[in-house]
This record gives sequence, structure tokens and C-alpha cells, in this order.
Amino acid sequence: MKSLQDLLNLKDKTAIVTGGAKGIGYGISYRLAEAGARVMMADLDETAGQEASKELTDKGWRAETTKVDVSNEEDVKRMISPCQEKFGSVDILVNNAGIYPSTPIAQMTADQFDKVIQVNLRSVFLTTKYVAELMKQHGGGKIINISSIDALHPSSVGLAHYDASKHGIWGFTKNAALELAEHQIWVNAIAPGGIVTPGSSVANPNIPPDQVAALTQAFLAKIPMHRLGQPDDIGLVALFLASDMSNYMTGEQIVVDGGALLA
Ligand SMILES: NC(=O)c1ccc[n+]([C@@H]2O[C@H](COP(=O)([O-])OP(=O)(O)OC[C@H]3O[C@@H](n4cnc5c(N)ncnc54)[C@H](O)[C@@H]3O)[C@@H](O)[C@H]2O)c1
Repeated sequence: MKSLQDLLNLKDKTAIVTGGAKGIGYGISYRLAEAGARVMMADLDETAGQEASKELTDKGWRAETTKVDVSNEEDVKRMISPCQEKFGSVDILVNNAGIYPSTPIAQMTADQFDKVIQVNLRSVFLTTKYVAELMKQHGGGKIINISSIDALHPSSVGLAHYDASKHGIWGFTKNAALELAEHQIWVNAIAPGGIVTPGSSVANPNIPPDQVAALTQAFLAKIPMHRLGQPDDIGLVALFLASDMSNYMTGEQIVVDGGALLA
């Protein structure tokens, strides 16, 4: 039987984390790199990617960055080829990049709807399509999709396009798990609740500034643990799914929300 230390050891593994430069993606990249993986932080924001990968390499861990728009098929292929050339394959894929602009349906344009679906959902199809082919040739791998509690229950008005994309990720996760299991590719999702990140800290234009404090208090009151999550709360669960600790799990979604969905 493997020791706990060996189960969590990702030495010799290569991981791609989309949207890895900031927020939840950085939290995940941190723990995977600490566990020994070579981490490719694939992000639209090149400067943030460089800063983030330097923070990890300064610790003596292995991290790189590449600029990518995950909704663009050519970008996705370009993201994967350096991993293939340098390291032979990709062992862990974390589909984390996502956007969550808030707009009521009445004001939402078709372009705004399409954009959210493309960045949040089409991207998961594209990365899975190309990375899974590599994984098939190299004995399998782990795919982790970052969905949301909104994949199960809406959190607020204005996120209809977002909730559609996240429900889509959950459906895609289950079907991909079914298709890829025979190739030893495990596909699971993590559904975070409210996590403190650069993206979630941006002011919501639909909420008047004088109501922000009261709404935040009401939101916290509904979370049984009475706190928002931190990126590391997701990073730790991602490490579990990326490691041999979760080898008999596929097609599953782990809710990490401080109990919010119970309330
Ligand atoms: N923060 C939360 O409360 C929360 C809750 C549930 C789910 N999520 C999900 O977690 C994921 C990360 O959220 P976050 O709060 O850390 O976001 P964030 O905005 O703080 O960080 C997102 C990162 O993704 C990158 N990115 C955005 N669009 C991209 C694209 N097209 N291609 C490549 N990179 C791109 C950004 O540059 C940024 O570095 C998203 O999928 C989000 O839906 C977040």
C-alpha cells in the first residue's frame, strides 16, 4: 500500500491550470506545484502569469506560464504543445478560467451570452478534446473542472448565462467521465461557493454602493461557516482530485462552499 506521502506526491507530473495566474487558479497552481508537479499556468493576463510563475519558482517549485484565450481553439492547441514537447504529456488538466459578469436577461445581449458560454464552457470542451488525446497515449490522467454552486442552484439574479455555462460544465464532466474512463482518464468537478478572489472582489454594477455592506452581511449570514472561502480551500481539494488519493472517483462534483447550499 502506498504511503500518504507517496499518494500526494506529484513529482514527474505535468499540470496545466487555465486561469492559473490569479484567484482560485493560483490557489490550485500553488498546491500542485508544492506537491511536485510542473505547472503550466495558462492565462489571458500575461503579466499576472509571469508574476505568479515567478512566485512559485522563487520557492524552488516548477512553474511556467503561457498566454492563452481558452475560448480560442488555436490558442488551446498552442497551450498544449510546449507541454508535449518539453515534458512528453499532460497528466493533470484543471479547467478553471472563467468569467462571471452580471446582467439581467432583459438587458443581456446575445453577444454577452455567447461570450460567457465560450469562455466558461466551450473552453472545457476544447481543452478536454486535445489534452485527452495526449493522456490516452501516455497512460491516462486527471481532469478537474471548476464549476460553481451555480451548477446546482442559482446564487443571484443576473447570472443566467453563467449558470447555464456552469450547469453545462457539470453535464460535460459526467459524460466525459463516462467516455474517458476506459483510457484511465478521471474527470471530476469542484463546485466552489463564494471565494475571495480578484474577480469576485470587483464591484457589481447592478448593486448600488450603499447596499454592498448590508448585502455582504446577508450573504455571510446564509453560509453556515460564516466566512467566505479562500483560493486555498479549493487548491486543497484540487490536490486531492489530482493525486492518487482519489483514484476510484470519476464523474463526481465536490461542493466546497462552507455549507452554503444547505441554507
Ligand atoms: N470566486 C468565486 O466566488 C467563484 C465561485 C464559484 C466558481 N468560481 C469559478 O472559479 C473560476 C475562477 O474564478 P476566480 O474568482 O478565481 O476568477 P478571477 O477573475 O479572480 O481569476 C480568473 C483568472 O482567469 C483568467 N482568464 C479569464 N478569462 C480567460 C480566458 N478567456 N482565457 C484564459 N484565462 C482567462 C484571468 O486572467 C484570471 O487570471 C471561474 O471559473 C469561476 O466561475 C468562482
